[in-house]
Amino acid sequence: MHGKSASMHSGPLRLFHLSDIHFGLEDTRAIAWAKECIEREKPHAVAITGDLTMRARHPEFRAACEWITALDVPVTVEVGNHDIPYFNLYERFFAPYKRFKAIERMVESRLDLPNLAIVPLRTTTRAQWQRFPWSNGWVTQEALAQTLAAIDELPKGTRILIACHHPLTERRERDGKLLTINGTRTMETLASRGVMGVLSGHIHDPFDLTKATPAGPLRMIGAGTLSMRIRSTPPSFNEIVIDGDEIRVTARNLEQVATRDMQIDEVPENALPPRTPQEPVSPVGAVPPVDPPVH
Ligand SMILES: [Fe+2]
Ligand SMILES: [Fe+2]
Repeated sequence: MHGKSASMHSGPLRLFHLSDIHFGLEDTRAIAWAKECIEREKPHAVAITGDLTMRARHPEFRAACEWITALDVPVTVEVGNHDIPYFNLYERFFAPYKRFKAIERMVESRLDLPNLAIVPLRTTTRAQWQRFPWSNGWVTQEALAQTLAAIDELPKGTRILIACHHPLTERRERDGKLLTINGTRTMETLASRGVMGVLSGHIHDPFDLTKATPAGPLRMIGAGTLSMRIRSTPPSFNEIVIDGDEIRVTARNLEQVATRDMQIDEVPENALPPRTPQEPVSPVGAVPPVDPPVH
């Protein structure tokens, strides 16, 4: 995790927060549009919060790396549960990031912008002794310590955003099911460090929630997907404007759906369409009648 320095700058900063492109099942129209927006509008940085691929296959990584290296702005890439080799167990355990070679310098890399840092937090693990499958998040002691060390290196007063794949919600509200292990403690620790917000993916619907923690409130911002594996909203990405201490989020999409209608009010378990009437969906509610194909 090494920072890149930037000159002092006043005025708002604009980030594009992309997630869950899932090359292999990407929405070609949506990714062409996102790329065009990046080329035309040149945001200060792009944060991609994981699930670059569908099955961590070599051709999917080649396509992802090609698409990402063509972006002419600073980029940080987090690792999602779909990006760790599933069938090749040797690689899964001993070289889980080997297939990221072409974008190695961007993976889990801190971005230093004028008076703002985007600091990565690893939530994807190779194995979880607590449960199977291993698709949900886990903030290990080591991962949290690395993130805190990166925060401690920053000049005092630097505004901080965290980028990770899994939302940090530890328990599903409805029934207390375990989602991200150690999420509650992590949220409290980040709030106590004055973190402005946590950017995440994994859900495939956008959200913008403020969670109360014993150390104060913490903003949780989720981006939708740019893949065909939609949950209840059309493909989208977040435009995030940081203006002083204020963060403004717009869930941009090709269907002209208003941001508030794109956002869900509670974090569900994962990207799959709702299975019961209690599952949270966005007001636009475009739940696919059947699960999108997974191949
Ligand atoms: Fe995903
Ligand atoms: Fe995911």
